[in-house]
Amino acid sequence: MTTKNDEILVTVGLGERSYPIRIARGLLGKLGSDIASRKIGNRFCVISDDRVAELYGESLMRSLSGGGLHAEILTFPHGEASKELATIAALARQLAKKGFDRGDALIALGGGVTGDITGFLASVYMRGIPFVQVPTSLLAQVDSSVGGKTGVDIPEGKNLIGTFYQPQAVYIDPDVLSTLPDQEFLGGLAEVIKYGIIRDREFFDFLAVNRKAILALDDSALLPLLERCCEIKANVVEEDEREGGLRRILNFGHTIGHAVEAASNFTLIHGLAISIGMRAATDLAVLGGHCTPEDDLAVRRLLQEFGLPVDIPPKFDRQAIRRFLLTDKKTVGGRVFFVLPQEIGRVIITDKVASTDIDEVLANT
Ligand SMILES: NC(=O)c1ccc[n+]([C@@H]2O[C@H](COP(=O)([O-])OP(=O)(O)OC[C@H]3O[C@@H](n4cnc5c(N)ncnc54)[C@H](O)[C@@H]3O)[C@@H](O)[C@H]2O)c1
Repeated sequence: MTTKNDEILVTVGLGERSYPIRIARGLLGKLGSDIASRKIGNRFCVISDDRVAELYGESLMRSLSGGGLHAEILTFPHGEASKELATIAALARQLAKKGFDRGDALIALGGGVTGDITGFLASVYMRGIPFVQVPTSLLAQVDSSVGGKTGVDIPEGKNLIGTFYQPQAVYIDPDVLSTLPDQEFLGGLAEVIKYGIIRDREFFDFLAVNRKAILALDDSALLPLLERCCEIKANVVEEDEREGGLRRILNFGHTIGHAVEAASNFTLIHGLAISIGMRAATDLAVLGGHCTPEDDLAVRRLLQEFGLPVDIPPKFDRQAIRRFLLTDKKTVGGRVFFVLPQEIGRVIITDKVASTDIDEVLANT
């Protein structure tokens, strides 16, 4: 990390595919000149959902033209339902009609849905053109914009079609979080807390101490938070870009969380389901003798203090959650793997979880 003129710079070190993550207030309005200096493309197409485009499209377009760049903007309807192949096909056709070619580049302006769609499109359009991430949701700023996972959903499951394709740069402007709906911010916070539990006890404690400042989007807490999350994600991706091993720790809370999300028919915001999943995984870790009840309590308390859910809503069918667990895409050879804390800051990945422990946790969560 280096800090210059109130700007934070984190680097994702992947050899010749390395790229910077720049974090600064007001960055949206001034990133045009930085993109221009990187010689990423001749023409640019900004891809955004209708909501984010309405809020920030004009400001980004002005910033790009201020940097002397020629850019156009294409939008799609906001929401997870747009993360499908039909959207990729529709956007690709519009790019082709506008004459975008291999010398051009894409810019993702939006949350994780926009980033995943744009990254996937960039990885397959004309067999691959460069792209840049301008994440606008907290989840996208701390997680999905970094690391190069792209993809879309099919009716059989989320993210089942996708690529690993790294962006050329990530530009994070915390100013845009002021318009993010509260529930979306909260969902992003679940992923933030996840980083503390899987990798960094000190960061976990920092979150507890700075809760009020974080919720108030105060720079003193928000900027170090964004920086530390990006650093942890970058470090994990540097060690295991294609999720052969270590990167799987980022799925902490996701095994049961995804099952809860699916059982809600995707009405529950992803991060809120992950919060429940993290609590359940930590309970499982206690039953399996991996983690102390004190750490379990600390995890639950922090989630609750931030206003995150830790219980499966009573109306959800426990049996359906159990079935979804077995069909999770993170099963390998039919075995369900769990990321379980050993202590706050350190986790293990294991498929050795007693079925009776899973039943007990589902019954008591
Ligand atoms: N690629 C990865 O590594 C990775 C990691 C985690 C999650 N994801 C994916 O990310 C997606 C979820 O991302 P998300 O939670 O950002 O969802 P999202 O992109 O749908 O954004 C959530 C909502 O917030 C709105 N929004 C975004 N920024 C805003 C802003 N600044 N002001 C006002 N409204 C704003 C959007 O229009 C949308 O309605 C899922 O599809 C998930 O699979 C990908």
